[in-house]
Amino acid sequence: MKQRKILVTSSLPYGNGPLHLGHMLEYIQTDIWVRFQQLRGHTCYYICGIDAHGSPIMLRAEKEGITPTQLIERIYQSHQQDFAKFHIKFDSYYTTHSKENRELTEFIFNKLKAGGHITTKTIKQAYDAQKNMFLPDRFVRGECPRCGAPDQYGDSCDICGATYNPLDMKNPVSVISGTVPVEKESEHLFFDLPKHESFLINWMNQGHLQEPMINKLKEWFTTGLQAWDISRDAPYFGFTIPGYTDKYFYVWLDAPIGYMASFKKFTTMHPTISFEEFWDKNSTHELYHFIGKDVAYFHTLFWPALLAACQIRLPSSIYAHGFLTVNGKKMSKSRGTFISANTYLKHLNPEYLRYYFASKLNNGIEDLDLNLEDFKTKVNADLVGKLINIASRCSGFISKFFAGKLSPSLANPELFKNFLQSEKPIADYYENRQYSAAIREIMRLADIANQYINDNQPWILAKQPEKLPEVQTICSLAINLFKTLIIYLQPVLPALAKSVSEFLNTPVFTWQDSHLPLLNHTINVYQPLMTRIEEEQIIAMQNDANEELKAESERIIAPAAISTKLAIKPEISLEDFMKVDLRLATIVQAEHVEGADKLLKLQLDLGEGEIRQVFAGIKTCYQPEALIGKQTIMVANLQPRKMRFGLSSGMVLVAKSGEQLWLTTAEPGAPAGSPIQ
Ligand code: 2FM
Ligand code: ZN
Repeated sequence: MKQRKILVTSSLPYGNGPLHLGHMLEYIQTDIWVRFQQLRGHTCYYICGIDAHGSPIMLRAEKEGITPTQLIERIYQSHQQDFAKFHIKFDSYYTTHSKENRELTEFIFNKLKAGGHITTKTIKQAYDAQKNMFLPDRFVRGECPRCGAPDQYGDSCDICGATYNPLDMKNPVSVISGTVPVEKESEHLFFDLPKHESFLINWMNQGHLQEPMINKLKEWFTTGLQAWDISRDAPYFGFTIPGYTDKYFYVWLDAPIGYMASFKKFTTMHPTISFEEFWDKNSTHELYHFIGKDVAYFHTLFWPALLAACQIRLPSSIYAHGFLTVNGKKMSKSRGTFISANTYLKHLNPEYLRYYFASKLNNGIEDLDLNLEDFKTKVNADLVGKLINIASRCSGFISKFFAGKLSPSLANPELFKNFLQSEKPIADYYENRQYSAAIREIMRLADIANQYINDNQPWILAKQPEKLPEVQTICSLAINLFKTLIIYLQPVLPALAKSVSEFLNTPVFTWQDSHLPLLNHTINVYQPLMTRIEEEQIIAMQNDANEELKAESERIIAPAAISTKLAIKPEISLEDFMKVDLRLATIVQAEHVEGADKLLKLQLDLGEGEIRQVFAGIKTCYQPEALIGKQTIMVANLQPRKMRFGLSSGMVLVAKSGEQLWLTTAEPGAPAGSPIQ
């Protein structure tokens, strides 16, 4: 087999927070692929690092009263620990805030400039005059210019889906200081993306991308490419742009260059490995970026265009995956479905999750659900019930009657060979990232191995001394089948594979070892290799996750509450207030709205047979069923609004803190329609 030289990356996680299980989906997916390549004998380096720059990191550090470098150092350590515990084995985990990254970013920028790919333009942006900084879109909140929904982000409306410029919002407020942002001009630098359109269209059609990604790109081409703003004004945490003192590279420019920088660092530590050999324009080595579908725009448009403009090699492929949902819901702090990597690790074995993800991952971009009940059932049934069971059922006889010695020949060589016939399909599944198919095939074989043991009943034979040689060959075959399965699973379960190699008294397995049965070989006494997941562990993890969220919201909500206070709207007269007709309403119906992330459709009884339909952005915090029959307060005389999903005739009143929402409710008993005084 030709030895391949492969460089693999996963997205660089931001340095402003700990890793969560959504992150782990990508690192586990990539790590399995890398381990598979290495197991097959290829040279495969896994490169990653912390994405250290940007306003959120700067502001978070400020809130904590530390410098951004102190913050990223701390987060870097926490990432490293979580990755190690999940058996994510990077060859290099570096940082974008490094000398290597600065040099490479400047090199690329200078090349872009010399090649005429950089333009400048003066633009208007929202500016926080109290804080003296331009506001990133997400740091402005206000009313949606299209539907008027209150408290929306500066770039898009959660309620009607509109995207806009924060300067077009009504009643905008800076999230940082609570003041009203002003418009301010400044000169920005742009990468001329439209100039690369025909190159990108061509590249898109050369087999580097998954089909759904190509479709996405086609949509973007239809909408039209825009020049990409690659600069940010001070204050910012990042690299200053050569020739300026108060302008910085936008974090998304130097983030993907961080892949190169991390590898560069790796090559300085390993001087026999050549950086140029991998990144040269004509390199024949392979380069793969594993990414989430949300960052596809950066990786499938900007990144290839930048590389091509600088005569640097292009990725061989970009492999996007979907998002993780937990129990069918988006991972979200407000929904209680947010589980940090560290919280998981406190309660559960990381290999359970590696296995579960593998059993559901394929090469598409659909979302993957971590259903905790299914997780428990699958891990217990497959890993403990089927796989480990093979070894635990048979090894006792080998130790007890044969001093740990396996038989000199196989009881059923055909069966052993059958297992080897699955080698090629399983390898192909791994190669094509169809891990779920690989796992299905491996579990099919595990069923066969268990059936073989059931059919031969060594526990019955062991009672008859003359049948003992048969017991030895049966159990030895079963243990060899087990070994084959463990080799197939080694990319997914590296720690288990290591324990099994110790139990079987062999060096760590290579892929080819599956062909060599252990005969006449002494194994060690079996020690439990994996235990079942107990319901209590899952409950404890969920409780812990909720506790952590509470603690975090106490930390984070406090400053937000101050800014809400600062942002109190201008005084109004009683007369103005009296214009608002507030009524008690009974929720008679509540349902999800197809295609809306945050909305519930409510039917509100206003008394005397009047039913109003209202769309409320409360889905993240309320199950529709739980609302039916509740009494709430609504604005009954709000102008009806035509929304994408239908007409909304009124508004329910909701309290908000951070991402938590509380629907206003009334004492039971008051008749629907009663005015609120
Ligand atoms: O979306 C994110 O979390 C980014 N930090 C990913 C960066 S990937 C790469 F380009 F660095
Ligand atoms: Zn809107």
